Amino acid sequence: MAHKDIVLTGDRPTGPLHLGHFVGSLQNRVMLQEKYKQYVMIADLQAMTDNVDNPQKVRDNVLQVLLDYLAVGIDPKKTSIFIQSLIPQIAELYVIYMNLVTVNRLKRNPTIKVEVQQRGFGQNVTAGFLTYPVHQTADITVVKGTLIPVGIDQLPMIEQANEIARRFNHIYKVDVFPEVKALTSKVSRLPGTDGTAKMSKSLGNAIFLCDTADVVAKKVMTMYTDPKHIRVEDPGNIEGNTVFSYLDAFDPDQKRVQELKDHYQRGGLGDVKIKRYLVDVLNNLLEPIRTKREALAKDPQEVMKIALKGSDDVLEVAEQTMKEVKEAICLNYK
Ligand code: TRP
Repeated sequence: MAHKDIVLTGDRPTGPLHLGHFVGSLQNRVMLQEKYKQYVMIADLQAMTDNVDNPQKVRDNVLQVLLDYLAVGIDPKKTSIFIQSLIPQIAELYVIYMNLVTVNRLKRNPTIKVEVQQRGFGQNVTAGFLTYPVHQTADITVVKGTLIPVGIDQLPMIEQANEIARRFNHIYKVDVFPEVKALTSKVSRLPGTDGTAKMSKSLGNAIFLCDTADVVAKKVMTMYTDPKHIRVEDPGNIEGNTVFSYLDAFDPDQKRVQELKDHYQRGGLGDVKIKRYLVDVLNNLLEPIRTKREALAKDPQEVMKIALKGSDDVLEVAEQTMKEVKEAICLNYK
């Protein structure tokens, strides 16, 4: 308990959250809130960077993401859940930080390079997208976050945040911002239902926390297994077999998983059987989440109040940070 580290994480509200988020970050946040002061941010402004023409989608998904947070057990009494655009100090810091980073440095950020390519932006990438790591630095530093849980693909973001924060401290000869550390998770990434490396909404291979039991069953039944496992009696391969990857990730009974793996590899265990078993495992996990989510969803206004309250709490911290920043850069008029 009583640890000095401050945790900040967040998500872009571009869709409801799925099982990939669950293993990658949500579970972790539920644990981290017991040990640290934790901030979880709904990054609505960041979501705009690649949804310029679809603000309504972003707006609608703020509630969806919030429902997911609460349904999995992120507790607003322990975690400040807040909305990025409600903290104007983030935008202020972003403007100040823009002078502390070069355009070349931003273009060299490996994560940005990949994302620009994935989205087909090429030379037409907007300034907003290219500089979102600077915006993200503002997210982290506005609450003086020190511990940022991220996937390894996000490590360049943390490096960039540190460069900016250090540069600020160095140029203005202050010690306003602490060192930022990445907290990389040990769990490997959850594949999509189609067996590809990553579960994502845009790839259409996701199981959402809000999917009904029937939808979960349907998605699991089409899941990628071992394409060479044709007849039940044939020995099957568990490597790269999505059903087993999911059982590894979600079945609390790992002894049973090992038995199923042995049986499958020996031959005599059909895909339909293991899929039905996985449907039960997933629905057992999701049922309480679904129930809680549905109950909360009946009163969206009440739910939104939680994020508004969290944002008010963050505003207080943000004002204090901003005061120190303005003092450092001689803009302390008041
Ligand atoms: N980029 C993160 C995502 O794609 C969301 C995010 C915004 C974030 N600001 C952050 C994560 C700061 C960690 C720290 O979901």
